[in-house]
Amino acid sequence: MSQQQTHSFTSPKITCTSPVNIAVIKYWGKENEEEHIPLNSSLSGTLNQDDLKTITTVQASTDFTEDELILNGKKEDVNTKRIQRVFRYIRENATAKWYTERPNKEQEIHVHINSTNNFPTAAGLASSASGYCCLVFALGQLFEVKSDLSTIARLGSGSACRSMYGGYVAWEKGHDHESSKAVQIIDENDEFSKQTNILICVVSDKQKHTPSTYGMEQSVKTSKLLKTRASEIVPKRMEEMIKALKERDFNSFAKLTMDDSDCMHACCADTVPPIHYMNETSNQIVQLVKDFNEQLGKKEDNTMDYHVAYTFDAGPNAVLYFKDVESTLKFLAILHVYYPADEVSSFFSKEPYATDMKKYLDWAKNEFKTTVAVDANGLKYVIHTTIGRGPEVVDRQ
Ligand code: PMV
Repeated sequence: MSQQQTHSFTSPKITCTSPVNIAVIKYWGKENEEEHIPLNSSLSGTLNQDDLKTITTVQASTDFTEDELILNGKKEDVNTKRIQRVFRYIRENATAKWYTERPNKEQEIHVHINSTNNFPTAAGLASSASGYCCLVFALGQLFEVKSDLSTIARLGSGSACRSMYGGYVAWEKGHDHESSKAVQIIDENDEFSKQTNILICVVSDKQKHTPSTYGMEQSVKTSKLLKTRASEIVPKRMEEMIKALKERDFNSFAKLTMDDSDCMHACCADTVPPIHYMNETSNQIVQLVKDFNEQLGKKEDNTMDYHVAYTFDAGPNAVLYFKDVESTLKFLAILHVYYPADEVSSFFSKEPYATDMKKYLDWAKNEFKTTVAVDANGLKYVIHTTIGRGPEVVDRQ
């Protein structure tokens, strides 16, 4: 049989879904640009895929003439460094017999990838974490990759590695490709995870923001504060955060989350030239959160029982982590009162929350006190979600 003989071959077609994650201890800055080794470890909550997910279908074939990536219906360039790096690691670690034992190794096998998000593009949410996680997870199933997929997802987008698991997930900084990986701290069925409710406040914003990759690079080059953050502040905070999660201590969780978001944005402000991701509405939401916590949780001895924590990524949207359902509904009622736009209210229609939230409207109108002057048009969209599971295979043909 000639070496050159071709064998037409098409792999199974696999469809997977992956979640979005939102960090409570932030990743900001790389130690190694090529391999995405971060300056510090980070930790995030995995959001519920019923509300936010990426869906990706992959298939390989000798009949395909090129690798192809369709993203939300649009053909994208696969010849980027990140995608090529992911492809290379997947192929190098492939154990699927159809690939490793193919008769003619010279014969090219291309992959077709089709990826969509279940959340509206209009919401303006970054999808690189769920997107790269889903791409790597799906290719990992197809090529039967046995090594840690979180390390390969990290090569696509750093934060994507944390979407590989449900619940609360740490990305251990490590020192090389193998050791810089995601580990689950508590799963989605832990009592703490089950209690957590999340509101994503999508803030109206026309400004084009500094992309996180570039912003990080600039901060690494110019911010002295970032050096202290990476060497002293975050290592201690990571330990405290892991302890808080394991002890189901929402108070410490909330305090650490807000402190770390403030710290990341302080490093951005300390960058030359300064980077400002948060806008007026972001700051107004911070103030509403502070007033809400004080009103619901301030004790006689002036200590605090936190009910909610804010956190901000590389943009103005606020992500709020709540202690329980009741505090979430109360805060939803506040948003409803202070941001009465139709688009905002339309997102409260999800039952049973829409009905339950109404119980607190009078409280929000008459009893909740804030001094902040809210820009009523500042909020575009609110998404209510919970902590959820990691990626999964949903179809194999
Ligand atoms: O993974 P990237 O390159 O999109 O970086 C994301 C960084 C932040 O979202 C700002 C923080 C984080 O830890 O997710």
